[in-house]
Amino acid sequence: MTTFPTHLLQSKEFQKFLRHYPEYETTTKLDELRKTEYARLDKMHHVYLDYTGGNLYGISQLDRHHKLLKENVFGNPHSTNPTSLAATRLEKEARKYILEFFNAQDDYILVLTANASAGLKIVGECYPFDEDGHFLLTFDNHNSVNGIREFAKKRGASFCYSPLDIEDLKVSEKKLKKQLKKYSDKKNKLFAFPAQSNVSGVKHSLDWINKAQDKGWDVLLDAAAFVPSSPLDLKKYQPNFVALSFYKIFGYPTGIGALLVRKDTFHKLQKPWFAGGTVTFAAVNESFHSLKNSHERFEDGTINYLDIPAVKIGLEYINDIGMDVINTRVHCLTGWLLHKLQKIKHSNGQCVVNIFGPKINQDRGGTIIMNFADSDGRTIPWDFIEYKANQQKISLRTGCFCNPGVDEVNSCVTNDDTAQYSEHFGTGSFKEIVAFMGKLRGAIRISVGLASNFDDVNTFIHFVKGFKDKSSKDIDFGAHFEVMRHG
Ligand SMILES: Cc1ncc(COP(=O)(O)O)c(C=O)c1O
Repeated sequence: MTTFPTHLLQSKEFQKFLRHYPEYETTTKLDELRKTEYARLDKMHHVYLDYTGGNLYGISQLDRHHKLLKENVFGNPHSTNPTSLAATRLEKEARKYILEFFNAQDDYILVLTANASAGLKIVGECYPFDEDGHFLLTFDNHNSVNGIREFAKKRGASFCYSPLDIEDLKVSEKKLKKQLKKYSDKKNKLFAFPAQSNVSGVKHSLDWINKAQDKGWDVLLDAAAFVPSSPLDLKKYQPNFVALSFYKIFGYPTGIGALLVRKDTFHKLQKPWFAGGTVTFAAVNESFHSLKNSHERFEDGTINYLDIPAVKIGLEYINDIGMDVINTRVHCLTGWLLHKLQKIKHSNGQCVVNIFGPKINQDRGGTIIMNFADSDGRTIPWDFIEYKANQQKISLRTGCFCNPGVDEVNSCVTNDDTAQYSEHFGTGSFKEIVAFMGKLRGAIRISVGLASNFDDVNTFIHFVKGFKDKSSKDIDFGAHFEVMRHG
């Protein structure tokens, strides 16, 4: 069995960590993989803390995929020629494997897409929104879900948002229950929420799926940020639609995602056009076409047939590790980060970082957002923090993370603020928004994942400690920003 590296075994801090999180010892398999599959991280001195942005691939995934490509000849699938058949066989195997991975083989149709956003767009474009329809979504949503409201609006459906509690950024239960009860007169009602926030890391209760469906809603679950470190069992929870991207689970390949459509909802989606590969019949002398009755209906044109086999390889890789192992590691490292970061204080007792969202390690994944405060309690601009992190090869992410709702709550942006700004809209840049609203926007996000280890989080904790007792007065932000802009 793998043990931890000597420097960790000799570290008092690590021993303390193990006392808090003894289950971390069950995840040593990942330390072994760090040396074999992800050796490049330490060789190049990278501290990768952006797993919610994109996961990292293991070297063996590439090797297996490249071997497959080098040793075979694959043609465009769905013909009877031998190279085409070879591609079709692998495509079918991958589809079966994906469905089984999510325990969805009996109840769902798998539509392969370019990414989660493309799957979400299919739902937006094809859901039967009309005057008799309503779209309900949580404040916490990626823009690729927020954007669906434009389809609803265009077709006369109403839409509304369900708010978050400011303390922990979880959905306001009372309000959501009320909203789910409302709109009982509407025929086609879609409720969308993320299984896990891509910003705060909050895991929104999957029980909302049943609760909403019991009240006549169709449910769209954005699982993109959830599935990289949590099991999703689609026998247990059965949203009508699930969207995700595979690179977020295992890093490679990019460019493939999935929309899982519950079989009994499939015909509710009304595709407004047709494309190559989606029809059983189309004519040009008459305006007539007939859409296929399978996943192919929504897969426009040629599928990414060379990369699809790499999705199976990626899922096999994850299954070999075990999602429970990944989940445990992420849980332990997140808990330690939350605990340590909140203890870092300036000499006057002010916290160096202010964490938004849940500060305890419950009902949350491995994503944490924060702002840094100087010793006078002023927020240090996040682009400066990013600049300093870049110097240490720490990959974190800053801004609003395509999730304006969470940022509006964190930054106390009111409807009036937005309404007034939209009247004076210029470029939409952060600088302009901040200057107009007089409120800081954005934050710093770190996220851990399957290749993270104790050293990674420890490096970040030390990075934060470096801001102890620093006053903004002593920092020449201007000079640093010039460096950032001009490289
Ligand atoms: C929760 C969530 N939904 C949707 C997306 C969009 O994913 P993609 O950019 O792969 O389409 C992301 C990406 O970060 C996400 O985290």
